[in-house]
Amino acid sequence: MKKISLSETDTLQFAKEFSNTLKGDEIIALWGTLGMGKTVFARGIIQSLLGKKEEVPSPTFTLLQTYNTPKGEVFHFDFYRLKSPDEAYEIGIEDAFESGICLIEWPEKIGSLLPKNTINVYFEMTSKGRQISIGEKK
Ligand SMILES: Nc1ncnc2c1ncn2[C@@H]1O[C@H](COP(=O)(O)OP(=O)(O)O)[C@@H](O)[C@H]1O
Ligand SMILES: [Mg+2]
Repeated sequence: MKKISLSETDTLQFAKEFSNTLKGDEIIALWGTLGMGKTVFARGIIQSLLGKKEEVPSPTFTLLQTYNTPKGEVFHFDFYRLKSPDEAYEIGIEDAFESGICLIEWPEKIGSLLPKNTINVYFEMTSKGRQISIGEKK
């Protein structure tokens, strides 16, 4: 799946379409630089799964926000401020991997901890606008 997103609304809509493909046990790594729309995309998935416009704050400072949805628990991580991969263990990343849908911003911070079956989503700026590609390496 690939999309050129020209607005926050485009990204929310694409996230909603993607959320319809989720079963409840996926690990999703959101790759891209600051301000590219990773949190907006995660918000779209979570709001779509919840079926309502609940507030979905960025986990920049808390590192983790969790939600109970009809497809199970959703773990929204933001590892921008992570000091070491050990800290990810401390906040329970291994349990999260086994317990529901994981949305991970700044996955590069946990390097080799990412499981092999991780779904990679890439956010990048192109001449046509922001491009979101799911499951394809650049
Ligand atoms: N096409 C787009 N998709 C998502 N966000 C966009 C888009 N165009 C502009 N924006 C703005 O860019 C910002 C993206 O912020 P955010 O999702 O927090 O980024 P990140 O989590 O990748 O650092 C928001 O303020 C949003 O309104
Ligand atoms: Mg973010």
